[in-house]
Amino acid sequence: MEVPCIIGAGYVGLTYAAGLALKGFKVNLVDVNAKIIEKINSGICPIDEPKLPDVIKDAARKKTIRATTSLMDVFEESDIFIVCVGTYCDAKGNIDLSHVKSVAKDLKECFEAKPDVGYKVICIKSTVLCGTTDGVFQPILESSGKVAGRDFGLAMSPEFLKEGSALDDILNPDKLVIGGLDARSIDKVRKLLGVFVPDDMPERIIETSLRTAELIKYAQNSFLATKISFINEISNFAELFGVDVGDVASAIGLDRRISPYFLNAGPGFGGSCFPKDVRALYTAGRKMGYSPLLLEAVLQVNSRQKNHVVELLGWNKEIPGSIICILGLSFKANTGDTRESVAKTVIPRLLHLGAREVHLHDPSSHAREELKREFVPDEKIHYHEEISRALENADVCLILTDWEHYKNLKPSDFEIMNENAVIIDARRILSRRLFENSRIKLTTLGFSTNKDFVPS
Ligand code: UDX
Repeated sequence: MEVPCIIGAGYVGLTYAAGLALKGFKVNLVDVNAKIIEKINSGICPIDEPKLPDVIKDAARKKTIRATTSLMDVFEESDIFIVCVGTYCDAKGNIDLSHVKSVAKDLKECFEAKPDVGYKVICIKSTVLCGTTDGVFQPILESSGKVAGRDFGLAMSPEFLKEGSALDDILNPDKLVIGGLDARSIDKVRKLLGVFVPDDMPERIIETSLRTAELIKYAQNSFLATKISFINEISNFAELFGVDVGDVASAIGLDRRISPYFLNAGPGFGGSCFPKDVRALYTAGRKMGYSPLLLEAVLQVNSRQKNHVVELLGWNKEIPGSIICILGLSFKANTGDTRESVAKTVIPRLLHLGAREVHLHDPSSHAREELKREFVPDEKIHYHEEISRALENADVCLILTDWEHYKNLKPSDFEIMNENAVIIDARRILSRRLFENSRIKLTTLGFSTNKDFVPS
């Protein structure tokens, strides 16, 4: 049986390795980070992601995932390499391909050191802009003297997994997109990653060109980000017009052309993909002399939405001197990832506006530890493992992440807050009905009873 090699043991690479191990493959997993490799080989999952810890533990026991820092060591054994390293975006929106390039150089060195190895296929899964696979990756590999299409195959197969449900998303994909240099490259990737697609659903496999596959990923993430910014814009209208945005979203979501997904109004999107990918596509367009007006608006609406959370708070409570409890530091529920999380924007803003103390809670210890590096605990910044300790004596509770732990909170849980305390539910997870008779005022983002607006 094929021994695939995954390069990059982050969210994507690790989850693919786990998924393939579950399908019965022996997998080589390469990463430059020796600490992560050591953890994986000892059966410890280095990230906070549902279902992965058990699979990683099992894989270490059965030795189905062999993690290593040396690509050279496993190069001969594997005939297919799936590149899952991160791509980053600087503040100006320029995509940083240093990790992808470094993998290309490592592979080139392997080809040079082992010139007699047979045909290999390299498939990029990292999110890369159009032209990266054939215009950046391929020339580096070919500088080894090997020729693409003859000595090695090249493919690009974007991933669509969501943190928090990464393994399930891989095991039950809506689609498998394979862009390839030629039919042989595509075929090899199809044989491997096609194991995740049910046999009776071949239409879920899309075979295409390298550049089309690259753009599909950006188009999909930009579309989803657009959907979120759209509903957040409608949410702001709902607040102006005395409407509940949830009712509007449910109704429009019933139209199959729209669908009910990704229509949850909230504090704006974060995470490692949407903000980075929309910015990267926007910047790439600008570099080519094109003005991506829609993408620009999507990003502007998103950053305004993060500020709107603070605005909502300020309308309900004087920020200067207040003790503010923030529930949710990760960018969404079920992950310890805090990249571009709303909390990271809101915390410094609240302190700048004069908040006396911020009390921070997240069910994930990873999320708390990540934030502690950026917002070091001091007399104003406090971290809590228990929700009740974070809420105690607070004037405001601001809910920023839709963890199950917060959805189940009842009015009595908030009784430990100060007199005249308020809750700002930016994730719309608490039932307003339950709080009708509570002494604590609940404000839900995207809802108001305001009847001020009457068309003239
Ligand atoms: C996303 C894509 O969904 C995935 O296909 C891609 O491969 C990587 O990027 P992820 O970043 O893990 O996945 O999370 P996702 O569930 O898509 O949420 C992204 C952000 O949008 C989060 O901040 C989330 O809270 C927010 N969001 C999502 C909303 O505000 N409203 C919604 O309706 C959905």
